[in-house]
Amino acid sequence: MGHNKHILRLLGVLGAVVVLFVVVRTMVVPKDFGKTGHFRFGAIEEEKAKTARFQGADACKDCHAEAFKTWTEGKHKHHIQCENCHGPRLWHVRQMNGEPDATPPKAYWNATGIVECKRCHVKTFERAPQVKSIESVQAHVTEMGGTFSPTTKCTDCHNQHSLEVK
Ligand code: HEC
Ligand code: HEC
Ligand code: HEC
Ligand code: HEC
Repeated sequence: MGHNKHILRLLGVLGAVVVLFVVVRTMVVPKDFGKTGHFRFGAIEEEKAKTARFQGADACKDCHAEAFKTWTEGKHKHHIQCENCHGPRLWHVRQMNGEPDATPPKAYWNATGIVECKRCHVKTFERAPQVKSIESVQAHVTEMGGTFSPTTKCTDCHNQHSLEVK
């Protein structure tokens, strides 16, 4: 029967796919995968070996003494780091230290004076009650005697580093 050929060809293709899958799988799956279920102890060392993209405020202290001082005297000093607003800055620290290949990552953010503030301060049901929240930008600005417009920023009124109202 002429149809057998088609079936054999199909089985051949399927066989090749299975072999390819097994070969690729052995190449990409780490050697210690499966020894402790889905958790791989090797992952800890691999993560530790990476350089942290977030540097923490102490890394900014020497070059940005003024911003640092205002921040240490302000309302964000306990929990909110420079990079919560300015984004991870490893690349910037390296660039400012003269490392030639230190370029900004493709996806990076910088402080806008409103986007990052809203992320933490606009009231949502899951927000921790300790964080003082505003109901909405418009309501807060109006309540505080300002005029709301699409270009309103929190930093129109709040100093970005002390958070005091100017
Ligand atoms: C080795 C010195 C150095 C260190 C360390 C450093 N900076 Fe800077 N930074 C500079 C200099 C110089 C400028 C101004 C030059 C420029 O704008 O490119 C600058 C500019 C900035 C700016 C304004 C321009 C921009 O990129 O948005 C921000 C914000 C900033 N730094 C944040 C930080 C933060 C946050 C840290 C800590 C994680 C940090 N910097 C660490 C030297 C440094
Ligand atoms: C609550 C958010 C927030 C935090 C936390 C914060 N910044 Fe900023 N920062 C801003 C905003 C908003 C601006 C104004 C927009 C801009 O220039 O990027 C700014 C501006 C700056 C600038 C530009 C010049 C200036 O002084 O205004 C530097 C440098 C800077 N920040 C460094 C820091 C450092 C260092 C820290 C931590 C010690 C820090 N920032 C913490 C929001 C923040
Ligand atoms: C990553 C979260 C986060 C971001 C981003 C953030 N805040 Fe905060 N903010 C907090 C927390 C948490 C506190 C309470 C102080 C603490 O626990 O350290 C606070 C405190 C404050 C306070 C003082 C409230 C009081 O106790 O009187 C003001 C005002 C404020 N933030 C405004 C801002 C503005 C304006 C921005 C943007 C420029 C901003 N925050 C960005 C989390 C954040
Ligand atoms: C028109 C000026 C103005 C603007 C714009 C503004 N604020 Fe305020 N904000 C105030 C004043 C005034 C207070 C009360 C005085 C104080 O607590 O220092 C205040 C208080 C706060 C508080 C403390 C609330 C409390 O319960 O004690 C937070 C948090 C806050 N603002 C966040 C923001 C955020 C986030 C933005 C931007 C989305 C913003 N503010 C924009 C004027 C303003």
